[in-house]
Amino acid sequence: MIKFVVIGDPVAHSRSPGMQNMAFERAGLGRPYGRRHVTRDGLAAFVAEAKKSLAGVNITVPHKEAVIPFLDAIDPAAARCGSVNTLDIRDGKVRGFSTDGYGLEYALKENFDISPAGTDFCFIGCGGACRATALHLAESGARSIHLVNRTLAKAEAAAGNIARFAPGCRVSVHSLNDGRSVEEAIAGSGVLIQATSLGLSEEDPPPFDPELLRANPGIAVFDTIYKKTRLLRAAEALHLRCAGGKSMLIHQGAASFRIWTGREPDLEAMRSGFDITPVTDGDGEE
Ligand code: ATR
Repeated sequence: MIKFVVIGDPVAHSRSPGMQNMAFERAGLGRPYGRRHVTRDGLAAFVAEAKKSLAGVNITVPHKEAVIPFLDAIDPAAARCGSVNTLDIRDGKVRGFSTDGYGLEYALKENFDISPAGTDFCFIGCGGACRATALHLAESGARSIHLVNRTLAKAEAAAGNIARFAPGCRVSVHSLNDGRSVEEAIAGSGVLIQATSLGLSEEDPPPFDPELLRANPGIAVFDTIYKKTRLLRAAEALHLRCAGGKSMLIHQGAASFRIWTGREPDLEAMRSGFDITPVTDGDGEE
């Protein structure tokens, strides 16, 4: 019986069912995880129904912020970043968590052996992905975070949130349209996080001229998109350390699994489940 789902709009492409069902199966808990296409207008009704019939939910784009008003309780860290990707449902009450920042932290550890403490970060993109993760890095001791975005006002809002909750972390904002300013942000960072939506489609250009990476040959490049993006190809050609977003998705999913079950998931099983391309018939349910 389905007791867990991922919701989003669209959701058919989600790798969470493959990944989570492998973890549940390895733990002897069957294959209880499905997916549900939920639009913005259907969010309130979905949460009301989930309280009666489900044990847990993952939330993907574009509902991570919009779901917050419908929760009974929210983890303080998720409230601070204004993003929820995991619902835990017990006794008809729903509590929201954010495991994306944790996912990014462990992906950086796994791929580059880099911890947030004392590290300088450059975020390219200040939409939902940055909002969900940058504050976690700042609260985990990042030395500085350079926020680069096409729309400067969004970078300023994210910077304000970091300054408020992690005043020990230096933060600066940069316009993606100003090559000199982007170069400065890159030069001052140990890790670049690509957090725009560019790269989801094969034809997408990189969000900035990868030649600017030459300003810092020691930088590690992490793309939150799990496909091999043009930026990652360019970074590889420059012989930079680089990694795509798959491990971030694995680790955020592992953290959700722990919240729901109190058990340690088999990460290798989750990785193999992630690699199963979802069988989709439009944006139907599973
Ligand atoms: P939002 O937070 O606006 O709802 P998102 O999908 O979470 O949207 O974030 C998309 C991110 O990719 C944003 O940083 C966006 O830049 P803007 O804030 O300027 O919109 C960025 N992005 C998307 N398309 C882009 C493009 N063609 N060039 C540069 N940045 C782009």
